[in-house]
Amino acid sequence: MTALTLSTAGAATLRADALVVGVAKGAKGPVVAPGAEAVDKAFDGKLASVLDTLGATGAEGEVTKLPAPSSLKAPVILAVGLGPVPEKDEAYAAESLRRAAGSAARALAGSKKAAFALPVEASEDAEAIAEGALLGAYAFTAYQGGEKDAKNAKNGNGAKQPLAEVALLGAKPRDKAYKAAAERAIALTEEINRARDLINTPPNDLTPEAFAAVATAAGKEHGVKVQVLDEKALVKGGFGGILGVGQGSQNPPRLVKLSYTHSKAAKTLALVGKGITYDSGGISLKPAGHNETMKCDMSGAAAVFAAVVAAARLGLAVNVTGWLALAENMPSGSATRPGDVLRMYSGKTVEVLNTDAEGRLVLGDALTRASEENPDAIIDVATLTGAMVMALGNRTFGIMSNDDAFRTSIHEIAEEVGEQSWPMPLPSELRKGMDSPTADIANMGERMGGGLVAGLFLKEFVGEGITWAHLDIAGPAFHEGAPFGYTPKGGTGSAVRTLVKLAERTADGDLG
Ligand code: BES
Ligand code: MN
Ligand code: ZN
Repeated sequence: MTALTLSTAGAATLRADALVVGVAKGAKGPVVAPGAEAVDKAFDGKLASVLDTLGATGAEGEVTKLPAPSSLKAPVILAVGLGPVPEKDEAYAAESLRRAAGSAARALAGSKKAAFALPVEASEDAEAIAEGALLGAYAFTAYQGGEKDAKNAKNGNGAKQPLAEVALLGAKPRDKAYKAAAERAIALTEEINRARDLINTPPNDLTPEAFAAVATAAGKEHGVKVQVLDEKALVKGGFGGILGVGQGSQNPPRLVKLSYTHSKAAKTLALVGKGITYDSGGISLKPAGHNETMKCDMSGAAAVFAAVVAAARLGLAVNVTGWLALAENMPSGSATRPGDVLRMYSGKTVEVLNTDAEGRLVLGDALTRASEENPDAIIDVATLTGAMVMALGNRTFGIMSNDDAFRTSIHEIAEEVGEQSWPMPLPSELRKGMDSPTADIANMGERMGGGLVAGLFLKEFVGEGITWAHLDIAGPAFHEGAPFGYTPKGGTGSAVRTLVKLAERTADGDLG
């Protein structure tokens, strides 16, 4: 993990391998952003025109490297685009800083230490830069460079090690707000990166049992109580949904409960995560082209796990319970068939028409179990439907809820932390499409509005009167394109920042 320090040193005097400055897109060409004054001075005030000559525009994500004048201690300047110059009297948006810092950190992979001289007016800016840099520096290298012959050993595709150290300039290390901002950024990004690691870990290694073991170890380390229900306990408890999904696999399912409690907490949040460690589709097998990235189908559980541990590390004055519904969805002689009826933990029977609609089955059980403890709110997070990806694309998660105000709050919180989301409805007329001639409900309904149909299914398993929201992160959970900003290829850690901010708001008494 990349180290973060706050530094009082000037941009000209700090020893580092590179010095990161911001460049914004102005009406008449690139504009050097605040924080880089000393660097501009070393260029005799001509840094903007040098960058212009080099073709830099200040566009978001643009990275320009140039040699530093000898009056600076760092040998290389990295100018990173911040996008348009803010309106007069406005500061750079947190998300612009986060993305720019992420792009810079990615471009500096292989370096030891970089000093970030981006615009910092308040501790929130330092926090955004720290988050962006620590998330952008992430690389998943656990399965690379293993070749025994050291001569040939390289970090797959020649990938470099992540930037080792980020020094934030312009922050006030002795100021309480800045110190807290740095500590929050470190805890939060370490947990997001932990979620990314879990998502990226191949499914032959990350079985439900292995995931539960990781959760148990992390819980011990951070003061989170962890209880694991294994397949025997699940049978005893009557968790027919989780068992039905997991029964085709050699790797049996688990239900993990994570409890973080605070002595001064007035509220309890329950977070429920879909944890399908691999989704083959089961007997309703997915065709080639649709199953290569399905190790990502536990991204909801990874987000919930990361958020609970982050809440514990931040010592938030709220109780947060996490429920990880872990199973592997595989076809075999013991797998659930299309046509089978499962008896869920709630007692409701479900006719499984399509074994690829498995997420709602494991979540149904976990939602009922979470409801038994009567939390103030339940939020489930799931890579639930391809339909949501069709509707909102690859970067935006959908929010459904039984409470409009709660849905709006989550949308606003997501926006504030730089996660793209959109409120979606739960149209009641779609419920009848799930009527089953045999059971209480079928696990599939109309194709049109499939993301909303899934949401309506989940709603049936939420306890009476409990505020609930469902985040369908199937789009943003796993990034298949080229990296951008602080978003790497692969697992993104989608929804963790939203969940943690929601817990913070709840702790502060700002919600409900
Ligand atoms: N895990 C998938 C949804 C998914 C799709 C996640 C793409 C990430 C990217 C889910 O279990 C699934 O297969 N859903 C089906 C439901 C259908 C059978 C009703 C779908 O969306 O096609
Ligand atoms: Mn599926
Ligand atoms: Zn799935």
